[in-house]
Amino acid sequence: VKIGILAGSSRANSESARIGAWFASEINGRDGLSAQLVDFHETPISFVPEEIWGGQDANFNAMKSSLVDCDAFVVIAPEWGGAASPVIRNALLFLGSAVFADKPVYLVGISSGRGGLRPILEIRSFSYKNNYACYIPEWLVVTECDKHFTGDAADDNDYLVKRARYGIDTLVAYANALNTMRTAHPRDLETYQFGM
Ligand SMILES: Cc1cc2nc3c(=O)[nH]c(=O)nc-3n(C[C@H](O)[C@H](O)[C@H](O)COP(=O)(O)O)c2cc1C
Repeated sequence: VKIGILAGSSRANSESARIGAWFASEINGRDGLSAQLVDFHETPISFVPEEIWGGQDANFNAMKSSLVDCDAFVVIAPEWGGAASPVIRNALLFLGSAVFADKPVYLVGISSGRGGLRPILEIRSFSYKNNYACYIPEWLVVTECDKHFTGDAADDNDYLVKRARYGIDTLVAYANALNTMRTAHPRDLETYQFGM
């Protein structure tokens, strides 16, 4: 099972990228799993649709190619201005159904303060129409994110670390189930390219 991890911040040395690296390490350490981590500071993508659709954005093209064969995704969405960051919305928009259709996505909302739920609610409500992603009914809200996933000894007893490990277990179970589902019922994207 290959899991794509989208660290949804365009900032250098972001908390999203740090927590994304924790997920990559955790996933790569498990038998039968591999992780593909994307840091949108290191690989920025265009906000201009015509540049994406015209194939002019080399970063985007390479990223999309590396993610199409993923079975599942972890999306790390920082709360910015009480909403999901622009770059993660942009990625969910442009990677689209070719990458996400009928695949499970585990949402991780993070905040340096007391937020983190709002980007999850926003993405669950307003990003799935055309990419057909399946946001699983298990998610993670990381408040005061700099205090968690630090890799020190206390981490193993941290509720959020335990919950994240359970989230990965859940995501893998969905990945296996939805791989079967997509084989049994491939999505007809020619007839129904967009959701209603
Ligand atoms: C433009 C901007 C707006 C932000 N707005 C919020 C916010 O509304 N609520 C919140 O809890 N944190 C907010 N933060 C702080 C982030 O939670 C913090 O930067 C955290 O480290 C996650 O973002 P990162 O992945 O870019 O590091 C904001 C940060 C930025 C850069």
